[in-house]
Amino acid sequence: MTTEARVKEYEDAVHAEVLDDLQVGDHGYKYRVLDGVVMPPYITPGRYQTSRELVTRPDDVCFVSFPKSGSTWLSYILVLALHGGQEPEGQTLRSSLHWVASSWTYPRSRAELDAMPSPRIFKSHMPVQMALGGGPTRSPCRYIYIARNPKDVVTSYYFFERGKSWAGGYSGPWPHWFRMFMDGQVQRGSWFEHVAGWWESAHLSNVLFLTYEDLLEDMDAQLIRLSDFLGLDLDEAQRRSIREKTAFDQMRSAEYSNLRDVKEFREFFRRGVSGTWRDQLTPEQSAEIDERFRERFGQNGLRLKGMEP
Ligand code: A3P
Repeated sequence: MTTEARVKEYEDAVHAEVLDDLQVGDHGYKYRVLDGVVMPPYITPGRYQTSRELVTRPDDVCFVSFPKSGSTWLSYILVLALHGGQEPEGQTLRSSLHWVASSWTYPRSRAELDAMPSPRIFKSHMPVQMALGGGPTRSPCRYIYIARNPKDVVTSYYFFERGKSWAGGYSGPWPHWFRMFMDGQVQRGSWFEHVAGWWESAHLSNVLFLTYEDLLEDMDAQLIRLSDFLGLDLDEAQRRSIREKTAFDQMRSAEYSNLRDVKEFREFFRRGVSGTWRDQLTPEQSAEIDERFRERFGQNGLRLKGMEP
């Protein structure tokens, strides 16, 4: 990996760009609010606007999730599926993606994005009303959303955010984090609204809705769905190769995908399974998520493995 491929240490003064609207909540949690939704400092108003106004192409692919839902895993699957099963040369997984709303990790100018060859792969953690390119009803881009059991999301997010300079520097205890998650006060707002918004767009022909649990349980079936959605016609051998390369242990050790080009990402590959929330949530916290899940999704048809409708 070249030195150029390494991401510099995060600094608010550089990456948050405008410091005036940054807020510091309990336990040192830094954030800004864009369109009423809590966002990390490095999602800047200017970059957000660029991502909203981006002119997308019909063969662009934008993968989207609430944080900690398996989006990086999905991104590697996409890179391989769209590049004939091979990693682009001289790149890392992070540098192969375009995260337009972020001013950190390989930011690119509007002109650079326009000059990028197709198919471009965009990363986003935005709710649907803030989506890249104006969202799936206005943009021809293909959007792939990945959702995950909220109990695993809140757990994974807690371990991931703690003490990271760029993530907001959160240093609070678990019960406080859990309450912020339930109140939609963590970065990217309410998990329930994020997932509901994309789920309600899943009938559109340019939206594919996947789940982390389905990928874990039957990756091949999900690769077939993905292949159909993208018009790729991946054969059995190509699908097997993608499954092998993106398996947790393989992905976290391979230089291309181990994310070591980003500082403080060492703990990123934490457990890579479903159900670790059982070591973290109290029975009351688990019941509270169940109840909210039923309220929000009982009627609209979303089913997530491990969650009762
Ligand atoms: P855990 O913290 O539960 O282990 P995101 O990429 O959206 O931030 O999601 C991160 C979660 O996906 C982490 O969950 C991480 O370990 C898991 N993950 C990353 N790569 C994976 C893979 N190849 N297989 C399964 N899970 C993976």
